[in-house]
Amino acid sequence: MNRENTPPSPVASARNLDDYWMPFTANRQFKARPRLVESAEGLYYRSVDGRQILDGCSGLWCCNAGHGRREISEAVARQIRELDYAPSFQMGHPLPFELAERLAAIAPPGLNKLFFTNSGSESADTALKIALAYQRAIGQGTRTRLIGRELGYHGVGFGGLSVGGMGGNRKAFSANLLPGVDHLPHTLDIARNAFSRGLPEFGVEKADELERLVALHGAENIAAVIVEPMSGSAGVVLPPLGYLQRLREITRKHGILLIFDEVITGFGRIGEAFAAQRWGVTPDILTSAKGLTNGAVPMGAVFVHQDIFDAFMQGPDGIELFHGYTYSGHPLACAAALAALDIYQGEGLFQRAIELEDYWCDALLGLRDLPHVVDIRCVGLVGAVQLAADPAGAGLRGYRVFEQCFHDGAMLRCTGDTLALAPPLIIDKAEIDRLLEIFAGAVRKVA
Ligand SMILES: Cc1ncc(COP(=O)(O)O)c(C=O)c1O
Repeated sequence: MNRENTPPSPVASARNLDDYWMPFTANRQFKARPRLVESAEGLYYRSVDGRQILDGCSGLWCCNAGHGRREISEAVARQIRELDYAPSFQMGHPLPFELAERLAAIAPPGLNKLFFTNSGSESADTALKIALAYQRAIGQGTRTRLIGRELGYHGVGFGGLSVGGMGGNRKAFSANLLPGVDHLPHTLDIARNAFSRGLPEFGVEKADELERLVALHGAENIAAVIVEPMSGSAGVVLPPLGYLQRLREITRKHGILLIFDEVITGFGRIGEAFAAQRWGVTPDILTSAKGLTNGAVPMGAVFVHQDIFDAFMQGPDGIELFHGYTYSGHPLACAAALAALDIYQGEGLFQRAIELEDYWCDALLGLRDLPHVVDIRCVGLVGAVQLAADPAGAGLRGYRVFEQCFHDGAMLRCTGDTLALAPPLIIDKAEIDRLLEIFAGAVRKVA
């Protein structure tokens, strides 16, 4: 893809970019025209060629408190001097216990048992394994089937990939995904819901598809349903009004566990600590990562309901769950998470998305007359602008806008022809204007 107004980057010749196989990246395109950042402070990255780039997606939906937070870097630096590593199998150190107590205090009701991982993918796989092992532990061993949803994203492990519903991610592995998985339909319905403010009005009945799957497979064979309360990676797909409540009613009625994947929605993105609280629906298990440490150190956390935990604490006194990671509860990750929580709570950032929501939605919906816009979705401090595909190919227009934005000083995400925005929660109204101005300019330029 050659574009005249994207200057050749000086770094391409100055550095060897050959040996790093980049994740979820068009490696050849990137290496021909790299986008490299070398430092960050507040709302801004600085590129290697010295430009300020407004961070419109909190890194990768991670840095909710903005960049360069000294409280976090100092806590991590102190911690590595004090205790660099300690095993978490049949051993312990104080920090994960302290962090678990802090997280339990902000969790939705009852979700007060914490299992630590290193990523969102590991959190998803952990949640699925806990669900399966729980059903067995309570004598419901036939409940082995897992239900995900189309357009869902639960990371890249075989578990998360199997319940996930983004076709492109699955296609190279389709014969090797977990057996016994089915999917609910997604809730994106532009024909009925285009340009909704907040949760869309139409589509609650899509939750009833779960009754159809229950009739098809038998409730006694289904262990759990996993959904993102709001799908982020697929391009900000929101739950219709009443949809999550309906899923909760149906799962409860049939003894099926409900898992919310809040890897993106957790830690203030929608307002409140979790979307579960903002939207008033409590799952049985909730997964998180990303914002947990403000993105500073890899870490995930799985919130598990007390009743589920209790079911494992019966029987012979030995290892109750044969699962865990070398770095579960890593001291540096715990130190970063504790410092991030102090910032979130000290600065009231879990309320920030609610305070700014009206302004944010007004500003985003104000872009509807830009060329090629077919839908705009917004809630909390997250949003997406969906463009019509270029006749030359799906995703080309979205990618061009993304590239143009970076060139013009703003970083956002593109998924196909949808541009997603989720700025750090410390953003103010003037910076929202600036972000959307750069974005609007980029859409016009590539139109
Ligand atoms: C909802 C959700 N679950 C899981 C993941 C996977 O997280 P990770 O990339 O940390 O493995 C992501 C990543 O974007 C996500 O959005």
